[in-house]
Amino acid sequence: MQNKVSRRGFGKSLGAAAMLSASTTAGAASKRARAVGTPQPNYYQFPKNFLWGCATAAYQVEGAAREDGRGPSIWDTFSHTPGKTFENQTGDIADDQYHRYKQDVQLLKWLGAKIYRFSISWSRIFPEGTGKPNERGIEYYQRLSDELRANGIEPFATLFHWDLPQALQDRVGGWESRDTAKAFGEYAGYVASKLSDRVHHFFTMNEFSSFIDLGYAEGRFAPGLQLPPARLNQARHNAVLAHGLAVQAMRANAKAATKIGLAENLTSAVPVIEAEPHIQASNKATRFLNAQYLTVIMEGKYMDEYLHAQGANAPKFTPEDLKIISSPLDFLGINIYQPTYIRAADSPLGFVRVKEPSSFPHMLSNWLFIGPEVLYWGSRHVAEIWNVPEIYITENGCSSTDDLTPDGHVYDTDRIMFLRNYISKLHRAVSEGYPVRGYFLWSLLDNFEWADAYSRRFGLYYVDYETQKRYPKESAYWYRELISRNAVV
Ligand code: NOJ
Repeated sequence: MQNKVSRRGFGKSLGAAAMLSASTTAGAASKRARAVGTPQPNYYQFPKNFLWGCATAAYQVEGAAREDGRGPSIWDTFSHTPGKTFENQTGDIADDQYHRYKQDVQLLKWLGAKIYRFSISWSRIFPEGTGKPNERGIEYYQRLSDELRANGIEPFATLFHWDLPQALQDRVGGWESRDTAKAFGEYAGYVASKLSDRVHHFFTMNEFSSFIDLGYAEGRFAPGLQLPPARLNQARHNAVLAHGLAVQAMRANAKAATKIGLAENLTSAVPVIEAEPHIQASNKATRFLNAQYLTVIMEGKYMDEYLHAQGANAPKFTPEDLKIISSPLDFLGINIYQPTYIRAADSPLGFVRVKEPSSFPHMLSNWLFIGPEVLYWGSRHVAEIWNVPEIYITENGCSSTDDLTPDGHVYDTDRIMFLRNYISKLHRAVSEGYPVRGYFLWSLLDNFEWADAYSRRFGLYYVDYETQKRYPKESAYWYRELISRNAVV
């Protein structure tokens, strides 16, 4: 931990003192200047090697949808199907990062970011999902990683951020088939062999529940299906199996120092009251509410309570599947946005979920309830329940109206409020010793927000989609200050 008060902070407090002395008596001013505005040693200061960065995903930022041999993904099909996305917008061009990646690396550098999380488009590498790899696809990610490294930014790559090759959906039914899991393993092994000389951290999957539950149960995301429970549970199983097969294939093909994890938006349980019975209840809830994804990955077993609750709809699996699914990981990535409030209850599961009242505050996306403490509890629960040695916050951030002023500014004070409060709670987790090593803010720049398309902005940089010009929002200046001070500001 650093104890020093930064020069800039010191200068600011002198400035505050000077202003005060102009309007009050000198004695009273100097007394107040000591009490107000003087940075406290260790005040929300992060450990010296804590890593700050930003995250994005291929389909949301790259564009270049038909270039250099890329095959279509289920998101191309979905977004081109009328009525599926906001105003039928697509990711055909998005932020055009495929062509502008050098410029975007400079945006990261200006922030002082040390890490960047991007995802790889499977159908750029295997346009048909399997078979012969397309070299021009992998070359793009090699160029991007080299550019990041040349600018002192460590690349972290996600293998699957929802853009399944359409060919696999058509041929075998996508995640409904074990063949997709096998194909994912092969893809992961290939990427590891071509990229692990320059990318040392990989995430297999991003957010199981988003691409399975929203894509195969609710139909709000690609491929837009509404499966009955038994088929849905099997798709869930195939997805965790794919994760495990990918871990194994990467271990077999990557350079020795490669670290592997995943990025999961677990249901993050927060005790309604920070007192023992509720804390224990939220701990139990974390295991149970994540039984179909994170719990089976971390424990190599579906919880009896889960199998019992699913009854005849439970997934079919073998003991060998469970071994693969629980292949050891080097770290865990957690995407954390909104809390799930839990209370202790005198019931078989020992907890109940407390639904948010209608007055609960949220950001522009109406699902994004504001509960900063979830960053603390999410980190604490995964560290305590599964003894995770290394955690990254792989996503956290929010949407805002982000109005651009005529002179090119965005005063997104709501985003700054959101981030300041969440990161303060992250500080609590770190200072209590939970092993969080880094934080990726979602997102570097506004991008294609899936079904909400361009109607929801999450970036630190505002993107004018007509001109592709990027403007730093006020939150970008704020994050830059946070990174340079390594403290909440
Ligand atoms: C999680 C997803 O991984 C990301 O793609 C999405 O844009 C953000 N949440 C915001 O909804």
